[in-house]
Amino acid sequence: MSFPIQRMRRYRKTKTLRLLFEETRLAPVDFILPLFIAEGLKSPEPISSMQGVMRHSFTSLAREAAAAHRLGIQAVLLFGIPKKKDNLAKEAYDPNGVIPKAVKLLKGEIPDLAVITDVCACEYTSHGHCGIIVKGDVANDPTLGLLQKIALSHAQAGADMVAPSDMMDGRIRAIRQALDQKGFSMTPILSYAAKFATCFYGPFRDAADSAPAFGDRKTYQMPASNAREALREIQLDIEEGADLVMVKPALTALDIITRARQRFQLPLWAYHVSGEYSMIKAAGKLGWLNEEAAMAESLLAIKRAGADRIITYWAEEAARFFK
Ligand code: PBG
Repeated sequence: MSFPIQRMRRYRKTKTLRLLFEETRLAPVDFILPLFIAEGLKSPEPISSMQGVMRHSFTSLAREAAAAHRLGIQAVLLFGIPKKKDNLAKEAYDPNGVIPKAVKLLKGEIPDLAVITDVCACEYTSHGHCGIIVKGDVANDPTLGLLQKIALSHAQAGADMVAPSDMMDGRIRAIRQALDQKGFSMTPILSYAAKFATCFYGPFRDAADSAPAFGDRKTYQMPASNAREALREIQLDIEEGADLVMVKPALTALDIITRARQRFQLPLWAYHVSGEYSMIKAAGKLGWLNEEAAMAESLLAIKRAGADRIITYWAEEAARFFK
């Protein structure tokens, strides 16, 4: 045969044909919007390393969440920044703390919008680590009790889902037990199951003022080199009772997303993190990249890799783009 019978370009001849043959599609429901709420703010405060993202006051939080919901976004993921931080993250489980207040506000004003809360200590500890420090490192088992209290305070305020992001061993089982005991057996747990230690969380730590004061997070978060270990992390969280699992970050872990998608049946979400957002924003601002196209390609790649839903600071722009 002198010429190929298969002509792949037939699929691409017109815009309409390209649409008809699209394998991966995105819609507003695919995006979950992370939001920062800071106690004591009168008006929203820009975050310099995350252009377009704000530290919200209660008023601006409710406004932004409502705007996102009107665009078809079905869930927000809340991060709290307390006024006071201490060694033991006491503010993290205060029933009148920043997150319980924000949850009540949002559930009151926009009942159909799902409110997911990040369950972690690092925004509340003076040392910036994700748990209780004993002898210079985060002590696993003493931190479990803290996480139980945090998750419970969020569930009691009406959170639709709690999302532990600390990477302690055994936390999913501990949180499940605590929730069940107190009557929250129907509150799902979204586990940050395969969470890598990465520089790509840098801008988030500016936003939440949660950079570790000493050391790093490498004794609890995953090394970039390890894929099998990531799959075991996911498997263990499933065995402990996670209702859905997350891979984080996204673009540097597409292989983990694909392998997890093939191996596990649970809903699988990916977190397109702050640094992934900010580097495209920065290049866009400099005129080195088409920001919108870079966003769209990144999000498509994450979905194509196998993620069911994507947590992204671009949720609103993406909802408009992919409506
Ligand atoms: C809290 C937490 C972090 C992120 C989500 N939850 C920071 C960290 O682990 O240092 C990062 C999110 C992002 O970079 O967008 N543990």
